Amino acid sequence: MSTPVLEARDVSMVFGGLKALKNVSLQLEEGKILGLIGPNGAGKTTFFNCLTGLYTPTTGSVLLKGTTLPGDPAKVTTAGVARTFQNIRLFPSMTVLENVLVGRHVRMKQGPLASLFHGPAYRKGENAAKERSRELLEFVGLSGLEDELARNLPYGDQRRLEIARALATDPAVLLLDEPTAGMNPQETEAARQLIFAIRETGVSVVVIEHDIKFIFGLCDQVSVLVQGELLVEGTPDVVRGDPRVVEAYLGKPPDEVEAEVASVVEEQQHRGAQEGQA
Ligand SMILES: Nc1ncnc2c1ncn2[C@@H]1O[C@H](COP(=O)(O)OP(=O)(O)OP(=O)(O)O)[C@@H](O)[C@H]1O
Ligand SMILES: [Mg+2]
Repeated sequence: MSTPVLEARDVSMVFGGLKALKNVSLQLEEGKILGLIGPNGAGKTTFFNCLTGLYTPTTGSVLLKGTTLPGDPAKVTTAGVARTFQNIRLFPSMTVLENVLVGRHVRMKQGPLASLFHGPAYRKGENAAKERSRELLEFVGLSGLEDELARNLPYGDQRRLEIARALATDPAVLLLDEPTAGMNPQETEAARQLIFAIRETGVSVVVIEHDIKFIFGLCDQVSVLVQGELLVEGTPDVVRGDPRVVEAYLGKPPDEVEAEVASVVEEQQHRGAQEGQA
């Protein structure tokens, strides 16, 4: 098997007495979309924070293309891992274009002196960065909105802008934390198509989502995290059919859930019959 583009080895994270992650190992193959699902508080965002150097895992390591990543968010971005946040983190008083440029600056070669003197090399670099940022805005479906303030965008567009900013850093891996939260069905479908398009450009993706229908229709592989532990992993078909997944999501074994549904249906039918008689 080829080296995974991103690999977590036995990552654990302890907060005080709480074990938020327990020896989580995960491999993302190049060119794939991996879904990470699990109930609230399962440790999904904590896992992203460990992958991106925001948290230093209590144990374990994270590797990009076989090389251990530094435990520093800026260095992780430069190494090629970009992310979006569950609670959108844009610069609300900056324009849409400026927000993407912030991501682009990670890849710009000029040092701080060049930007102080604004010489020709600086201007050339800035123009190239703007051009690339505009391309990315078009790619995510936000062209024409370059000069709007980020805070004036509708929620779904803000999520797309965050993706454009992440892509501006030229990542090998993109981590998306609940990219469709708060979106309507049309926006969710557009987000799904966008993530496919991102994969087409050669970027490998990990997506956290609660909408499991969305996840099963998007991902090549799915990993299920429950109470900090990786419970099940596999293709969408394997994961969907695993009784432990149903139990983790609904809190009960599948046969109990079925029995409960049957009793509700029966009760409704009974009530309907009584109303018919009245
Ligand atoms: N900085 C922190 N300090 C202490 N506890 C934390 C910290 N970050 C997360 N936790 C705890 O770790 C556990 C996992 O939280 P996390 O946010 O990773 O879950 P999640 O799977 O992303 O949930 P959700 O689906 O609700 O976003 C929770 O019990 C949370 O309270
Ligand atoms: Mg979360």
